[in-house]
Amino acid sequence: MKHLLSTRDLSTEDIVSLLAMADHMAEINSRAVPKVPALRGRTVASVFFEDSTRTRLSFETAATRLSAEVMTFIASSSSVNKGESLRDTIETLSAMGVDAFVVRHKSSGAPQQITQWTDAAVINAGDGWHQHPTQALLDAYTITRNFKELNSMQGRTVAIVGDIKHSRVARSDIDVFTRLGAHVVLVAPTAFLPSSLDGWGVTTADSLDDVIGAVDVVYMLRIQRERMDAAQMPSLREYSSLFALTPERAARMQGHALLLHPGPINRGVEMIVDPSLVPGSRILQQVTNGISIRMAVLFSLLGGDATTTLQNGVEA
Ligand code: CP
Repeated sequence: MKHLLSTRDLSTEDIVSLLAMADHMAEINSRAVPKVPALRGRTVASVFFEDSTRTRLSFETAATRLSAEVMTFIASSSSVNKGESLRDTIETLSAMGVDAFVVRHKSSGAPQQITQWTDAAVINAGDGWHQHPTQALLDAYTITRNFKELNSMQGRTVAIVGDIKHSRVARSDIDVFTRLGAHVVLVAPTAFLPSSLDGWGVTTADSLDDVIGAVDVVYMLRIQRERMDAAQMPSLREYSSLFALTPERAARMQGHALLLHPGPINRGVEMIVDPSLVPGSRILQQVTNGISIRMAVLFSLLGGDATTTLQNGVEA
């Protein structure tokens, strides 16, 4: 694998293998000094043309813990503001010596386009409505490790709730979760569902109350206002009445059920309950796990032979 642009770049065996490698990375992250020399001499550039808190810092932390050099590019304070194109930006950074680009862009397909302009590996950190593959990997990691079912989500039901239509997280999660054997039910108003779900392998529900007591995972999504025009926005009061997680709905979750959210949370819109008061909440654990998953992805793309290099790194 040269790039990670989509979950579709990964076979199911690749996904299971990355989750297993993340276990090794989690062990490194539990040490007093969470750092190994596995990617010494490599340079990872985080190139974000859209806002991010979790993904950018998580990738940069992952690269640092593997001893890679990190180059940070923030579009809002760059020469993009003077008219520099995406291509010229990538070619300029490549000329400084980059082994991997971690790219976020508001346009679907931008990371794929960037592969044409550089010999470096390209990792998609979220492109438009299209894909956010490392989010899906960290979500699958969080679910499987909580249920202690390491290679499978067979028999589990995941409700993904909210703005599915504009969500790259939902598209990536649905692909990974269903390939690991889960049943996914999309809980959303019609306006927040794609016009066709042919081939998605999911079912739908039009009220959270109909499913909340029966699912193993409740996965809440933010309304992606930045990806819709004002005419598409529903009444927030109406939306929250049917689709927000309230204290009453959270109390109806099964005892073992998990609450996940990719962040950022919009409190008072999709999350009326304080997530810290929901026993099954693993929202901050998702953030922690994101570092281990991104270490696994960076190592897989840049590290060469896992049995020797990672072992040397772990032992160093
Ligand atoms: N989950 C996620 O992509 O969060 P950020 O937008 O903060 O990176």
